[in-house]
Amino acid sequence: MGIRAFEILAMVIMLSPQSVSVSTAVAQTESGASPIQIQSDIPSVYQTLGDYFPVGAAIWPGDLSGLHAELLVKHFNSVVAENAMKMEYLEPTESVFDFRVADELVDFAKAHRMLMRGHTLAWHQQNPAWLFKDAEGNDLQPGPESKALLLRRLKTYIRTVVSHYKDDVYAWDVVNEVIDPAQPDGFRRSPWFEITGTDYIDTAFRSAREAAPRAKLFINDFDTTDPTKRMFLYNLVRDLKARDVPIDGVGHQMHINIHGPSTDAIAETIHMFSTLGIDNQITELDVSFYDNPKDSCPAISQDALIEQGYRYRDLFQTFRDLKSELSGVTLWGLADDHTWLKKFPVARLELPLLFDEHLRTKPAYWGVVDPARLPARPVSAQSAAEPETPPCSKP
Ligand code: GLA
Repeated sequence: MGIRAFEILAMVIMLSPQSVSVSTAVAQTESGASPIQIQSDIPSVYQTLGDYFPVGAAIWPGDLSGLHAELLVKHFNSVVAENAMKMEYLEPTESVFDFRVADELVDFAKAHRMLMRGHTLAWHQQNPAWLFKDAEGNDLQPGPESKALLLRRLKTYIRTVVSHYKDDVYAWDVVNEVIDPAQPDGFRRSPWFEITGTDYIDTAFRSAREAAPRAKLFINDFDTTDPTKRMFLYNLVRDLKARDVPIDGVGHQMHINIHGPSTDAIAETIHMFSTLGIDNQITELDVSFYDNPKDSCPAISQDALIEQGYRYRDLFQTFRDLKSELSGVTLWGLADDHTWLKKFPVARLELPLLFDEHLRTKPAYWGVVDPARLPARPVSAQSAAEPETPPCSKP
């Protein structure tokens, strides 16, 4: 649906160059009935939170023009590439770098004086096919030669990419999702780990620091409130610090749902990492309506949208309270017309962000900027006996 709205907007822009102006662009809603414009008489999210931390959104090239760009610039003062800075795009062929799309995002951020986060340097997904293969195209097998080759590739990649952006990217997710609490030692059995052990983590941080000494370096992961997982992550960060591996903070992805984790668990987690003398950021926030991969609603009820608004209120109240330990909050998307959750873990309706599919405010937005304007809370959600309001609207 969002794609449809975007396609129409793209066509409008392509067909009539004079309509490119961000301030005058008008898009059609999916029904084609009513034109929409960005709401101008509402508080900016980032300005409202100006005393606390920068507020970011994950973006893609579709966000750089028209109404999306207008919404982005009004409400966010930080951005991160949803995909464009992943290795499969930046080094699709060994030694052949392609910065074109990522540069567009960075240029936009600079032009609008937004902070740019870099995401992500070493991950087990979205890698180019050649990365874990030898010259003959066979999978690298663990052994000293493979290890040396892979670490060399990692160093070259990080030096090239981080130097390219140097001071334009203020914070990097250096390694992503390296912890797997199901392993006895807590380390994800990725090809990185299978071939280099934990050396790739050290190499990634050291190479990034050499290439951009002023950039803040983060380790990023999901489910950081899970007690087992966060203990493994805590021990790793403590060990990196003890060995002077340059790490500045923990990125908490925060792909969560309207029921959990609790804000107490989030605060406890942030406090825990702060005791190591490092920074924290919320890096990929979105709030799903579902707490399992099976449910799917043809339409989301108004009650569930309101409940999501209260969830965002509670989250941002907690983030504000954590101001001295939290240096940024980034949402994983700009508006509900473009979110990975519509396809993952299954294809279904998801509306996890602050603005709706027509780029208008939702209760989630009011929960962040002015909770006094939230509609009254649904009665069923207040009842302890029935805490989980079904997200589907009744037929
Ligand atoms: C993880 C990654 C992100 C993104 C999301 C899903 O959280 O860190 O880059 O791919 O999954 O979109």
